Amino acid sequence: MGLLHQRHIIVAISGGIAAYKGAELVRLLKKQGAVVRVILSRGAKEFITPLTLQALSGEPTHSELLDETAEAGMGHIELARWADLVVIAPGTADVIARLAQGRADDLLTTVALATPAPVAVAPAMNQQMWAHEATQSNLEQLVGRGIQIIGPDAGEQACGDVGPGRLLEPDAIANALSEQFESRLLDGKRVVITAGPTVEAIDPVRYLSNHSSGKMGYALARACADAGAAVTLITGPVSLAPPSRVTVVPVTSAIEMHDATVHCAPNADIFIGAAAVSDYRPESAAPEKLKKAEGQDRVITLVQNPDIIATVAKLSQRPTLMIGFAAETNDVIAHAREKRAKKGLDYIVANDVSDPDTTFGSDQNAVHLIGEDEAHYLPLATKQVIAERIVSLVAHHLAATSQTSS
Ligand code: C5P
Repeated sequence: MGLLHQRHIIVAISGGIAAYKGAELVRLLKKQGAVVRVILSRGAKEFITPLTLQALSGEPTHSELLDETAEAGMGHIELARWADLVVIAPGTADVIARLAQGRADDLLTTVALATPAPVAVAPAMNQQMWAHEATQSNLEQLVGRGIQIIGPDAGEQACGDVGPGRLLEPDAIANALSEQFESRLLDGKRVVITAGPTVEAIDPVRYLSNHSSGKMGYALARACADAGAAVTLITGPVSLAPPSRVTVVPVTSAIEMHDATVHCAPNADIFIGAAAVSDYRPESAAPEKLKKAEGQDRVITLVQNPDIIATVAKLSQRPTLMIGFAAETNDVIAHAREKRAKKGLDYIVANDVSDPDTTFGSDQNAVHLIGEDEAHYLPLATKQVIAERIVSLVAHHLAATSQTSS
């Protein structure tokens, strides 16, 4: 599976003769497993039809900022948050100028402003327009804001001119986008992650568990693998596909997760406890199905499970960086800070699970990453984007730590 697999990518096509290559880009991204949604500017629709793009992407296309039906399906802010990456291809001189100004006067520019995801532009225009000081200064501004400029190519142009300004070929654009997801920040590092719920047997058919979907832990496993780490994912039962390039250790109960973790975590560079470990388990699991005794209540004694992350933090071969999660419903930051200190962690990721946008099972999250003397708010975005931000922040911390200790 490549780096684009399951990525949410918005391909925004603006109005230029190269718009047809935007369609080819959509096809190539889909082929690599990305989930693609297309925005067509008003100008783009003069060159290519929404129907073509709908057929290629398998999703309805988006065009208007103020379209009641479209907003009822997926509104522009929702669309902006859905994306893991936005690519504007082709990006005309006009779109580049409007992006530089930070305008939000159509769907394309609004989404580019509203998205927390990285934005890339593949310019396409006449060579004279490309060379113009205005265009070059606009591009400089975009680069200064972290927008990736892909291309352009040089050569023969639709207008008969020869020079720079041709849209880069779609396969080259797709490769550049794929590289966006490959940060190498954790090259050579070993990461161990726990994810998902644990399941505590009451008898052979009944159990105690929780609503954890495992999505955040899986997103972190993928982000660490994409950043070059060797990742071991110790996971409770979830209905997610295992991420590629990750060693998956499936477990069921907290005790199994504990044992697997104590085996894998020593001397890891990073340990991330994203699992929702059951605090308690039945004292003993009945070997046969418990029968209902008419008119009688049943008492099940629960005993405490080991705190896995706190155990790992106390190991003599403690991982260099330990990161835990705190799902809280009130006083999120204060409780998370307390938990970080109590468990002996370097960072804690706090999320407010009373918020319907970020509850268990959601594809999105908004969190606070809290360290000893730092706190970063990572606003609502897909769990994949949040995972990449966390990886980027902690990788820099890890690099700084190893510099001071060497
Ligand atoms: O459940 P709690 O709020 O204490 O969870 C905070 C952190 O501790 C999470 O990172 C979770 O994965 C970890 N934890 C654990 N073992 C437990 C309970 C929680 O590793 N038994």
